[in-house]
This record gives sequence, structure tokens and C-alpha cells, in this order.
Amino acid sequence: MVKICGIGAGYVGGPTMAVVALKCPSIEVAVVDISHSRISAWNSKNLPIYEPGLEEVVKQCRGKNLFFSTDVEKHVYEADIIFVSVNTPTKARGLGAGKAADLTYWESAARMIADVSQSNKIVVEKSTVPVRTAEAIGRILAHNSKKGIKYQILSNPEFLSEGTAIQDLLDPDRVLIGGNDGPEGHEAIQKLKDIYANWVPEDRIITTNLWSAELSKLADNAFLAQRISSINAMSALCEATSAEVSQVSHALSKNTKIGPKFLNASVGFGGSCFQKDILNLVYICESNGLVEVANYWKEVIKVNDYQKSRFVNRVVTSMFNTVSGKKIAVLGFAFKKDTSDTRKTPAIDVCKGLLGDGACLSIYDPQVSEEQIQKDLSMNNVEWDYPIHLQPMSSTTVKQVNVVSDAYEATKDAHGICILTEWDEFKAIDYQRVFDNMQKPAFVFDGRNILNVDKLRETGFIVYSIGRPLDLWQNMPQQA
Ligand code: UDX
Ligand code: UDX
Ligand code: ADP
Repeated sequence: MVKICGIGAGYVGGPTMAVVALKCPSIEVAVVDISHSRISAWNSKNLPIYEPGLEEVVKQCRGKNLFFSTDVEKHVYEADIIFVSVNTPTKARGLGAGKAADLTYWESAARMIADVSQSNKIVVEKSTVPVRTAEAIGRILAHNSKKGIKYQILSNPEFLSEGTAIQDLLDPDRVLIGGNDGPEGHEAIQKLKDIYANWVPEDRIITTNLWSAELSKLADNAFLAQRISSINAMSALCEATSAEVSQVSHALSKNTKIGPKFLNASVGFGGSCFQKDILNLVYICESNGLVEVANYWKEVIKVNDYQKSRFVNRVVTSMFNTVSGKKIAVLGFAFKKDTSDTRKTPAIDVCKGLLGDGACLSIYDPQVSEEQIQKDLSMNNVEWDYPIHLQPMSSTTVKQVNVVSDAYEATKDAHGICILTEWDEFKAIDYQRVFDNMQKPAFVFDGRNILNVDKLRETGFIVYSIGRPLDLWQNMPQQA
């Protein structure tokens, strides 16, 4: 029986390994992590991440050919193939701080693999890493390996999106496998290909050299984020000219050279990948002396930051240039719908901007916990499983933030509503009831363009929706 070990039981490692186990009943898959709390959650009824369809997959395989464990060394020792899906955050200090990927976790995983292995292994890079990481990992493994043990490194980047991870894994557009040239590299590529061939049609499995696979992952996220920043930049121009951004994106989407995806104007993109990967790309460009190329990609992030601060300015200026002491209902905190993940969510910057102007926030998200929201708003970014009692809370911020358990409570007596995540349930709210219970004039700021603007205006709301013609009220000269 082939044995696989997945190191890292996070958003990427957990769902990916679960689907491999589901589709390959003859393979034993062990998912290991140094975090005891995360592993015990994977072994319990309450999985550590919310992802549609994940629970069913885990239930079907757990205890049969899918195991979650903290005994990292045992499972690495036993495995033929090791998938590494550890976190690669942006470096916080030192050379490349704020841009370069921090490979500390990766390096420590590689050293551990070299330490415990007694047989040949295929090591698969799943987490997004800078181009040429495989070279560094190869050196660490080679220089620390026991006599005669050989490693083949493959790059097999994950293209899943949170919220649709299981669907993306079951029916991927493509699987990318990069490996070394030469017979041993080709043999390793073939072994991984055989695993995917259990459920992915062969013509969707692309094989490349290692560096193309590593760079394609960064390029992929940079291109997607660039489209969102492009349409968001257009949304600002739409507001200035009374064009409608949804009409513009519809027109663009019908151009087959462009296509329909990633053209929704929004309050800004978030998530753990886009910003981190673009910054990483920028750093790699700078390290190669390609200043102009680095600056080009930096602009994608600048436009994203501009979109978030533009939204805050719009809220404040529409509400008579101050939100001080006003209750603002924030609907949605996750970085997009159908996930509980808040990493780099635009809601953090928008909420901080509103708090900075003195607003009192009442926040509701169907899947994000109060602890997570308070943590995100009261500090600089830290890992999600950082012990809560160790976190420095800013007392003023905490007092201004209330987290509640439904949209009606959040909006009661509020002056304004900000929609920051496109959860489906926000479309089904009874906005007449909400309006009746709000302060007047009552404002709605739709940062995801999910609501029917005309109907809301008929109800009596003053409405702002990204990239759409403004209410006369908002067109006054002092506006953003
Ligand atoms: C363009 C638009 O495509 C068309 O919809 C519009 O009506 C008129 O402008 P055109 O200028 O004829 O059409 O050529 P197009 O095929 O779009 O190419 C424009 C330029 O981009 C050419 O120099 C072409 O070589 C270049 N190009 C195109 C690339 O460099 N790479 C590509 O992948 C595609
Ligand atoms: C992304 C990539 O899509 C995926 O291929 C990669 O493997 C990981 O990073 P993810 O971060 O899960 O996936 O979410 P995605 O659906 O790409 O959305 C990212 C952000 O962009 C979200 O905040 C989303 O709300 C925003 N977005 C997306 C828009 O604002 N407009 C769009 O049209 C699409
Ligand atoms: P991603 O979104 O890329 O999956 P996460 O932070 O959700 O990122 O998951 C990465 C996981 O990897 C974390 O649960 C972390 O505890 C785990 N991890 C990091 N380093 C190691 C290591 N050396 N051995 C085992 N697990 C590790």
C-alpha cells in the first residue's frame, strides 16, 4: 500500500489530503501538524475550518484511509510521498521584510524529513513558495540525508479557492506537476500523475520543469488579483461618470479574449494568497534587478488599498463627514462568502478605518467567531491559532466593537449598514424591517454589489454600491 504523509493540516493541506484519500481508497493518507488543537479538531465533530462538502468527505474516509495525527516524525518515516502544505507567511523582519516569503516552517519541515527518513522519498511542494525554493530544499535534504537516501522534489501547487475547495479538488481545471529533468525526476512525476489519474482526466494534468510550476502559482494569483484591481479601478471611474460597473464588466465578460471570471467590482480583494503572493513576486523581481516589473505588480496592491480607503471615505463623507459615535452595522467579515477565513479580509481595513473616525461597529458574520473578529481588529496580524489570552487588546478598539449573532440585531438603531462579504443570506434580509428599526436618514453601503439598489432606494435608504451611479445626495461637492 502506498503511504502518503501530508505535513500541515490547514486550509490547503486538510481539504487536499482528504480528497486524495476519498479518491484513492488503496492509499493510506496521514495528515500531520505540530498544532495539537488543530489535529484534535480534525479528529472531532467540529472541523477547524468551514468549507462546503468537507465534513462529508472527512466523515467518509477518517479512520479508514485518512488519519490526522501530531506524530509528525512517525508518519514521515513511513511515507513514500510527502506533501508539504505548511504556512509561508510574508517575512515580518530582516532581509525582504514585508515582501519576501518566510520559509522558516518549510525549512524546519525539510530538516525534519532529512532527520527521520530511512528510505527514498518524493517531497511535494504544495504550499506556494518563491520560484527556485525546490533548489534550496533539495540542498537541505541532500546535505542532511542519511547515507544512500535519495529525494525527488516536485512542485504541485494548489489552485483551490476557499469556499469551493472540495469542488475545485474534485474537478480541477488543471493539475500542475513540475519536476527535475532526467529519469529519476520523470519517474517521480509519473508517480504523482498516477495518483491524480484516479479522478482527473489525463489531459488536465500538465507537467513542466520545477521552476515553471513554482512561478506559475505566483503568476496565477497575480493575474487574478490584477483583474480585480483593474475592474475596481474602473469602478472609481464609473462613479465619477455615471457609468455602471456591472454593465462594463458584463460587456468585458462577453469578450472571449477576456471572459467572465474575476470581474466583480468589490470593496477589495482579500484572502491569504493574493497580497502575499504579489509581494513575494515583487521581491523576487527586485532581487533580480527588475525594478519596473516589481513596480508594475506593486500597483495591483496599491489599487486594492485605494479601493478599501475609498470605501471608508465614501461612508464617512456620505454621513455628513463624520461617523463619530454613530452605530454602523457591518454585515460580513470573512474575506469572501462560504468561508470562515478572515486572513487579509478587506473588512479589517474598512472596520479599522471606520473605528479611526470614531464609529461604533456592530458586526455580524454567519461563520466568523467573535474571538476572531476582536483579534483581527485589536492587533497587527497574527496567526489564527495564537493563544487568545496572550494577545494585546486595545481597550478603546474593543469597546467600539460589538459582535452580534444576527443581521437584525446588528442593524437595530444603526445609522448605516456596510456589506463587506457577499453571503447569500444578506440578499434575503427583510430590508423594510431593517429600515424601520434604523436611525434616519438610513444608509446602505454595499461593498459587494449584491443588493437591489432600486428597491432599497424605494424603501427609503440612501444607497452606495461600488461603481454604480450615486444617489443625488452623495453627489454633493464635498463627497469622496
Ligand atoms: C483589437 C481588439 O482585439 C478588437 O476587439 C478591437 O475591435 C480592435 O482592437 P486588433 O488591434 O486588430 O484588435 O488586434 P489584436 O488581435 O487585439 O492584437 C493587438 C495587439 O496585441 C497586436 O500587436 C498583437 O500582436 C498583440 N497581442 C495580442 C499580443 O502581443 N499577445 C496576445 O496574446 C494577443
Ligand atoms: C485564490 C485563487 O483564486 C486560487 O486559485 C488560489 O489557489 C488561492 O487564492 P481564494 O483566496 O480562496 O483563491 O479566493 P478567490 O475566490 O480567488 O477570491 C480572492 C478575493 O478576491 C476575495 O476577497 C474575493 O471576494 C475577491 N474577488 C474575487 C473580488 O473582489 N472580485 C472577483 O471578481 C473575484
Ligand atoms: P494554508 O492556508 O497554506 O493551508 P495554514 O496556516 O492554514 O496555511 O496551515 C499551515 C499548517 O502547517 C498550520 O496548521 C501549521 O501548524 C502547520 N505547520 C507549520 N510548520 C509545520 C511543521 N514543521 N510540521 C508540521 N506542521 C507544520
